[in-house]
Amino acid sequence: MKTSDVIIAGGGVIGLMTGWTLARAGVSVTVIDAGGPAATDAAAGMLSPSFEQALHGGGGALSALSEESLRRWREIAPMLSEASGVDLDFDTGGILAVAFDDFEAAAFGADAKGGEPLDRAQVLEVEPSLSSCVRGGWFAKNDGQIDPRRVRAALARTLVNEGGALIRGKRVASVQSENGKVTGVVLGNGERHTARHVVIATGARVDGVADLPEGAVFPVKGEALAIERISGSPKRVIRTSKAYLCPKADGRIVIGATEVPDDWSLNTDERRVGNLRAGAMAVIPALEDAPEISRWAGLRPATCDGAPIIGPAPEGPDGLHYALGHYRNGVLLAPATADALAASIQKGRLSPTITAFSAARFTRLGVS
Ligand code: GLY
Repeated sequence: MKTSDVIIAGGGVIGLMTGWTLARAGVSVTVIDAGGPAATDAAAGMLSPSFEQALHGGGGALSALSEESLRRWREIAPMLSEASGVDLDFDTGGILAVAFDDFEAAAFGADAKGGEPLDRAQVLEVEPSLSSCVRGGWFAKNDGQIDPRRVRAALARTLVNEGGALIRGKRVASVQSENGKVTGVVLGNGERHTARHVVIATGARVDGVADLPEGAVFPVKGEALAIERISGSPKRVIRTSKAYLCPKADGRIVIGATEVPDDWSLNTDERRVGNLRAGAMAVIPALEDAPEISRWAGLRPATCDGAPIIGPAPEGPDGLHYALGHYRNGVLLAPATADALAASIQKGRLSPTITAFSAARFTRLGVS
């Protein structure tokens, strides 16, 4: 049996970032990672508060959290890279959304927050490798990207360097409490670990550990592929209505991603992945000959209103906290989520940035 102040169930970017944040503040913390692929490993790593307003719930509160988190990434990325010795491929070159007709341009305009509209000549100036069929675009020059797998490796290393513990390959089966207060967790193999606080950051799998109505959190599978970054490749992240392309420093272009709700499998579908690739080639024709390197799938943890669940469990017990349902933006939202949870755990103070994300909105509504 191990004793910590805080146990975090989940070793993806949200769990590890929260663990590292607490460990840096001198809190004794254990992160329990069930093993296997986390949603983080499947993510492309866009840090993009400027797009996808329509896909997410949370309205202005989620926009504010996203912007705050991007601001924190700019501080954290160099610090995490230095502390871990891992190059995070943090790229602040902006994100360019590209439209092929007026309808798409209007849709991007309506869905974008910040950034500036560009006409055809301007968009080709920003990214000369684009298809000549583009009609215009939207450039969010403050958005960026990072490599999520490197982030996860860096966080695992720095968590341990700061005195935190990382248990791999074991699943938290249940949260234990006495007299309305958390006392610890029991793992799938029966091991018990004690703590005054438990954070549930288990992605789409919340059975047995989160007291949420059925259907509040569910998986939205995303399939993606990586191709070689050949001559004529884009210099920065490009988004279209069919695909996004994230050029990485390691010589890959990650192309994503499909949306398949309620599919727990991690297989990839030939037709859906083919459509992503076709979407990428339509915007950067030079990629036609780029060899494919790999393809994969991951499970985005979605919620039924599209906004995350962050903060104390509304029905108790005291000391139980949720960090769930970050859907398409777990990597972006990790720093702000970790900061808010750390403040809540250490000072018992709920940051105003997360009050809109309480699970109470589901328990009150009685989601079914
Ligand atoms: N963040 C993009 C995606 O989830 O596909």
